[in-house]
Amino acid sequence: MLDTHIEGALNAQIEMEALSSHFYLAMASWAETTGLNGTSAFLYKHSDEEREHMLKLIRFVNERGGTAKIPALDAPQASFSGLQDIFTTLLDHETKVTASINEVVDLCLSRKDYTTHNFMQWYVAEQIEEEALARTIMDKLAMIGSDSAGLYLFDRDLGQLETEA
Ligand code: FEO
Repeated sequence: MLDTHIEGALNAQIEMEALSSHFYLAMASWAETTGLNGTSAFLYKHSDEEREHMLKLIRFVNERGGTAKIPALDAPQASFSGLQDIFTTLLDHETKVTASINEVVDLCLSRKDYTTHNFMQWYVAEQIEEEALARTIMDKLAMIGSDSAGLYLFDRDLGQLETEA
């Protein structure tokens, strides 16, 4: 049976992952309407992945005898000033997700819930990858600056990264 404190923390994490999916969906849609098709494909996929993260948590909570809560979500930010804005916002959001996952892990240790602690290790590893990818993208954007040919290639490469994944 799931400890009620752990159940609460996992439900908060479910909301966080739902918010991430919603947020990246808005970014993907904005990119699509701006002609950034590669970036859009990358972000649609990223949004789907966040939904998977949410589902994995929902199933875990329910399987362990808890009750997963499906959260209500506010409309996410709908417009952005450009690629830099999108990926800065994304990295900032992922940093918050990592902090929230670390809090769940901390709570698991203090409540001696080693099963949930073990389950959460997948999220810890996933966050390392996601933050690293976002930082690599930010570095590339910093190199490109406002060079339009560079931005065109960046968008194309991001789309290709998507189809290869
Ligand atoms: Fe599921 Fe990007 O955190």
